[in-house]
Amino acid sequence: MKQVALEAIAKPERFLSARPLGKEELTGAFKEASGKISKYMHNFTERFPDACASKNVYHPVANCQWTCSFHTGMLWLCYEMTGEQGFRDVAEAQVNSFYDRLFDEKRMATHDIGFLYTLSCIADYKLSGNEKSKSAALIAADLLMRRYKPLGQFIQSWGPNTNAPETYRVIIDSMMNLPLLYWASQTSGNPKYYDTAVCHLETVLNNIIRPDASTFHTYYFDPETGAPVKGMTNQGYSDDSCWSRGQAWGIYGLAFSYLYTKDERLIGLYKRLANYFLNRLPDDYIAYWDLIFTEGNEPRDSSASAIALCGILEMDKHLPDSDPDKAVYKGAALRTLRSMIENYTTKDVPESNGLLLHGVYHLPAGVGIDECTLWGDYFYMEALVRMLKDWKLYW
Ligand code: GLY
Repeated sequence: MKQVALEAIAKPERFLSARPLGKEELTGAFKEASGKISKYMHNFTERFPDACASKNVYHPVANCQWTCSFHTGMLWLCYEMTGEQGFRDVAEAQVNSFYDRLFDEKRMATHDIGFLYTLSCIADYKLSGNEKSKSAALIAADLLMRRYKPLGQFIQSWGPNTNAPETYRVIIDSMMNLPLLYWASQTSGNPKYYDTAVCHLETVLNNIIRPDASTFHTYYFDPETGAPVKGMTNQGYSDDSCWSRGQAWGIYGLAFSYLYTKDERLIGLYKRLANYFLNRLPDDYIAYWDLIFTEGNEPRDSSASAIALCGILEMDKHLPDSDPDKAVYKGAALRTLRSMIENYTTKDVPESNGLLLHGVYHLPAGVGIDECTLWGDYFYMEALVRMLKDWKLYW
């Protein structure tokens, strides 16, 4: 890894302790959330909720977004927690649609194949042993591998899979697509997926993480030489600010890469990114849409906090009890989840078919501001499940 002088970063001591969340509170929150999913799921067998809601209501779209599998993932979580066949029936109908999607070049022209096939087909395979879903997810991994650019040593994130300079870049969100590759190596016995994931990871670590532990959203490389060119934002406030959700993808992505590689450097990096994020949270612990904002009336992005929360809960499993920072992260997780349960859910918004209020999709483009987002809902539910049981990951 590139050697750079890292800036010191304060430990977020204010999270050192937190009121525990009781089983009843957690069960109540899960019941509320799964009740919403159950109430509206029959509108989403052939079609999927859109990426974000409009006035907190999701409208149905075809299986064409990068987000569709978050709904399938919630159905699997509900099935796993309740054993109710109804959830499984709808999840299976959705999984069928992911089999079809595999063969549609246009809808597969994205690195988010990881999100898409982990929460649909891998979840199905892990829960029910469905071999067809296993095969589909392995094909998906092969398609993701095709986006790897050997010169720049990264998997191209967005756009058609060419070497055009305008698309020759990575985004921090890509860290979340690596579990598909790690899983594919474990499952197939072929190390090529793991090796590619690790090369991509190294490129992200070397270029996207800044010395102060904030992150660029996207980073360009030179298609002629593979050399790093510059970091730029797409969904954040400015090129040199830190987009909250990008930082959160980084936190959770590091936890996953640690899980699969056991590379000790990732623990230190995880702590730095998490501290940067936690140090910038307002009084109710839910991030603004960009971490340049720490107070005032800017929109929150509850989805960023839900993602970071799951990353913190995952890493908590790997930090030994003797780790001096463990209590801080545990406190942060409890405070964040309590804040969500008490003030950010749709329990008092009966017309909403979403779960988590006050997310942001793409503020600079004016899309999905102060709305439920499908991934925000998913990670909120995943966090509840993680707190309620020893959850075996779909990732
Ligand atoms: N991965 C796209 C987003 O977070 O908006």
